[in-house]
This record gives sequence, structure tokens and C-alpha cells, in this order.
Amino acid sequence: MRLVTLSRRFLVSMLVGLGLCGPAAAQQDDALSALVDAWLASPHGSYHSPSFTYWNKEGAVPVQCAACHSQPGFVDFLGADGSAAGIVDAPAAINAPIGCASCHNSAAGALDSVTFPSGVTVDELGASATCNVCHQGRASTDAVAAATQSLEEDAVSADLGFINVHYGVAAAVAQGSQVRGGYQYPGRRYSGRFHHVPSASACVDCHEPHATTVELEPCLTCHRGVGDVRAIRMRHSDFDGDGNAADGIHSEIMGLHARLGDAIQAYAADVSAAPIGYAKETFPYFFADTNADGQIGPDEAVFPNRYRSWTPRLLKAAYNYQVAAKDPGGYVHNPSYMLQLLYDSLESLAERVEIDMTSLDRP
Ligand code: HEC
Ligand code: HEC
Ligand code: HEC
Ligand code: HEC
Ligand code: HEC
Repeated sequence: MRLVTLSRRFLVSMLVGLGLCGPAAAQQDDALSALVDAWLASPHGSYHSPSFTYWNKEGAVPVQCAACHSQPGFVDFLGADGSAAGIVDAPAAINAPIGCASCHNSAAGALDSVTFPSGVTVDELGASATCNVCHQGRASTDAVAAATQSLEEDAVSADLGFINVHYGVAAAVAQGSQVRGGYQYPGRRYSGRFHHVPSASACVDCHEPHATTVELEPCLTCHRGVGDVRAIRMRHSDFDGDGNAADGIHSEIMGLHARLGDAIQAYAADVSAAPIGYAKETFPYFFADTNADGQIGPDEAVFPNRYRSWTPRLLKAAYNYQVAAKDPGGYVHNPSYMLQLLYDSLESLAERVEIDMTSLDRP
């Protein structure tokens, strides 16, 4: 890891040079070294991740991707390079992870409001504003509604393709109905931002911004008797109808998610007359289950075999299935919003296929 060692030394010496860590006091230097090490070991500092190397063949990160996948692209988005704020003006450098200068520049420091894919702007985000820019996803209720409006709910349409909310969509989930990151069914009420408790409400209250990790210790002062975050629960209902209302809220969400996966398959086979399956690791995730064995094998998980028999109802449910899949922290970020989206997706599919809704509960 020669590159890593060199870049760590370079960063520290650069920061010392800038006076950021004071008059070469050994203690401060150590603290800064530890911070830089934590960042290098984090996903944001992961030079080899697909998030920063995906465009290497093209040689630049295109404007519509650069804000979140390249430090210079983010700096351009912020306007910290003297360009207009709120848009990326030019393709940006490859192999440029989210480094110190992404969050430590005057524009990032002043950033307090962030606009989400629905067009809604959220204010007073403080030190977590930058997180909300990149972890907001790329679609919303509005995109799904626009694609499906004026189409018959259960008619297969060649015009429809899967709409992917994108990845790491924690901020979209955390803000809930305020930004409509999930597909919200008309006529339903959805939870807004999950405020949790004042000491653990914003991203950087829980996530150390350099390591990006969450320390469990402080949680346990309130959530006593659990050894694992996933065992935390404050609500009493058996939301997923598995007869267990004592396990963590995480398992309620996972239970409903699995039921939704089954319901999507049942609907696709019966109503779209074309079996569907989900391949967790492969874009665009939903594929034709050509041998109808309920699984997507390696030969099926290929782009030309992407699912193409979408009806509006199926697309909406699949969109929400993916929202839950792409925020594995959804049970902490906004448990009720997550449960509502999954419940409503199941209820919608139940209008056309046999699903036992009586054992399920909606918060
Ligand atoms: C609003 C910010 C944002 C924009 C814009 C954006 N992405 Fe991402 N993307 C992310 C985040 C955040 C992740 C990492 C999520 C994680 O690993 O938790 C990610 C991850 C990825 C990954 C890795 C996927 C994986 O499974 O690990 C690929 C590939 C990707 N994005 C492609 C793109 C492309 C192509 C574009 C432009 C068309 C784009 N992204 C635009 C935020 C964004
Ligand atoms: C994703 C955004 C982000 C990145 C990348 C980032 N920082 Fe920070 N940094 C923050 C935030 C936010 C705070 C303030 C924490 C708070 O207010 O709770 C902070 C605080 C600091 C502090 C004050 C001490 C502390 O631990 O709070 C130092 C020093 C620092 N960062 C240095 C760096 C260095 C060096 C790098 C690159 C290796 C870096 N930061 C990368 C967001 C970031
Ligand atoms: C400029 C865009 C950007 C900013 C700003 C940003 N992130 Fe990220 N974040 C990403 C990308 C891209 C990834 C995925 C990196 C990878 O694949 O290695 C990621 C990964 C993560 C992960 C790990 C996800 C996983 O799959 O393990 C966490 C947690 C996270 N970010 C939290 C934060 C927090 C908290 C902040 C604010 C302090 C923040 N991010 C600011 C783009 C950003
Ligand atoms: C109450 C504390 C808390 C708050 C507030 C919080 N998170 Fe999280 N977050 C967690 C925990 C705990 C996990 C890990 C969940 C797991 O793996 O079971 C997590 C997971 C994540 C992940 C996914 C990591 C992975 O493994 O893929 C991302 C990305 C993320 N958070 C970003 C954010 C952002 C951005 C915000 C602000 C909008 C935020 N978080 C607010 C506690 C929090
Ligand atoms: C000061 C006390 C306190 C601290 C500290 C705290 N929580 Fe909580 N937590 C609560 C309360 C109260 C609720 C119920 C909030 C509500 O539903 O409005 C809750 C709800 C939750 C839930 C949802 C449970 C459910 O059944 O809906 C999760 C998950 C959670 N907390 C995780 C965490 C994590 C992770 C941390 C540490 C990063 C943490 N909490 C720190 C008090 C706390």
C-alpha cells in the first residue's frame, strides 16, 4: 500500500504546512494522522472503489455523475472553484475520492440547504449538509409518477423501464415524506423526517465524518440490553406478521421486504405473464426469470435480459423494494417511513394477487 502511505504523509504534511493542525505540536499531529488514517480506511477514501473508478475507461466522470463521484466534481457543484453553485459545469477527474477539500472549503462550510431529486429544498442541515447532497439518491415519487401517469395500472407498457433510486440513499430516507424519496401512493400519509432524539438526529451526530462509522456505545445509554444495533426496537407491533414482536425493528423491515419480493414475483407471473427476479449486485437489478425457477442465475443476470414487462403497479412496488435495499440503515434513518412504503406496496399488489394483509400492520 505504497500509494496509501505516501498520500497519508502528503496530506498530513500539507495540513501541517497550512497551519491546520497548529504549530507542529506532536499531539495534534498524532490526532490528525489518526483522522487521516480513518478517512483512508473509509469508503470515502477508497481509491479503488467502483464509486471512483467506474469511469476510468472514459477518462472523466460525466457531469450528471460528477457531483458525488469525484472531489473536483463536488467542489464544482458547491461553486468552491468559482463556478456557479448547484450545478456541475464540466466533466471531472477520475480516481478522485471524497477527500479533505470536499468538505473543508468555505462553500461546504457555509452550505446549509440542499435540494433533493423531487425539487424540494431542506434547510438547516448544518455540518450534515454535504452528506445530504451525495446521499439523496437520484429519483423520487415524482419521477415514478411522471413515468406511469396516464398508463393503465395493470397493463404492460413497452415505454416503462426500471427506475433505480441509486445507492446509499440514507438522506432521502431520513427526510421521509418531506422529500418523497420513496414512491408514495396517493391518498396515504407518510412520516416526515425522523428526528429520533436531539443528540442522534443529524448524520454527523451518529456517523464520525472521517471514518463514516457509527459508535454503538452512546446508543446503549438509552437502548439498554441490546448488544447489536439491529436488535433495537421501540415500537410494539408485529409489522411483518411473523408472530415475533420482540426482535429488532430491523427484522420487521427485512420481513416486509422479503414479503414484498415474493409479492412482486407473484404479480409478475400472474398479471404481467412474465416471471421476474432480483439480482442484488447487478444493474438494473430486476431481470426476466426465463426458467421460472424463482432465482436469477448468472446467465440471467445480464443487461439484455433486464426485465421489460413492467406495468405501472409493478414498477412502483419494485421502486420501493429497491429503496429499502439501497438503504441498509433505513431502520435507523427512518423506520416508520420504511415500514409505510413496504406496507403500501404490498397492499397495492394485493389488489391483483393473493397476499394475506390481515397479519400485517402499518405504523
Ligand atoms: C446525488 C449523488 C450521486 C449522483 C449524482 C450519482 N451517484 Fe452514483 N453513487 C452515489 C453514492 C452515495 C454511492 C455509494 C453508495 C454506497 O456505497 O453506499 C454511489 C454508487 C455508485 C456506483 C457503485 C454501485 C455499487 O453497487 O457499489 C456506481 C456504479 C454509480 N454510483 C454510478 C453512477 C452513475 C453512472 C452516475 C451518473 C449517471 C451516478 N452514479 C450519479 C451517489 C451519486
Ligand atoms: C464528508 C465530509 C468530510 C471529509 C471528506 C473530511 N471531513 Fe473533516 N470534518 C467534517 C465535519 C462535518 C467535521 C466537523 C464535525 C462536527 O462538527 O461534528 C470535520 C472536522 C474535522 C476536523 C476537526 C477535528 C474533528 O475531528 O472534529 C479536522 C482537523 C478535520 N475535519 C480534518 C479533515 C481531514 C484532514 C480530512 C481528509 C483526510 C477531512 N477532514 C475530510 C467533514 C469531513
Ligand atoms: C461528494 C459526495 C459525498 C459526500 C459529501 C458524502 N458522501 Fe458518503 N459516500 C459517498 C460515496 C460515493 C460513497 C461510496 C464510496 C465507496 O464506494 O467506496 C459513500 C459512502 C458512505 C458510507 C458507507 C456506505 C457503505 O456502503 O458502506 C457512509 C456511512 C457515508 N458515506 C456517510 C456519509 C456521511 C455521514 C457524510 C457527511 C459527513 C457523507 N457520507 C458525505 C459520497 C459522499
Ligand atoms: C441515529 C443514528 C444515525 C443517524 C442520524 C444517521 N445514521 Fe446512517 N447509519 C446508522 C447506523 C447504525 C447504520 C448501520 C446500519 C446497519 O448496518 O445495520 C447506518 C448506515 C448508513 C449507511 C449505509 C452503510 C452501509 O453499510 O451501506 C449510510 C450511507 C448512512 N448511514 C449515511 C447516513 C447519512 C447520510 C445520514 C444523514 C442523512 C445518516 N446516515 C444518519 C446510524 C445513523
Ligand atoms: C437519548 C436517548 C437515545 C439515544 C442516545 C439513542 N436513541 Fe435511538 N431511540 C430513542 C427513542 C426515544 C426512540 C423512539 C423515537 C421515536 O420513535 O420517535 C428511538 C428509536 C430508535 C430506533 C427505532 C426503533 C423503532 O422501533 O422504531 C432505532 C433503530 C434507534 N433508535 C437506534 C439508535 C442508534 C443506532 C443510536 C446510537 C447512534 C441511538 N438510537 C441513540 C432514544 C435514543
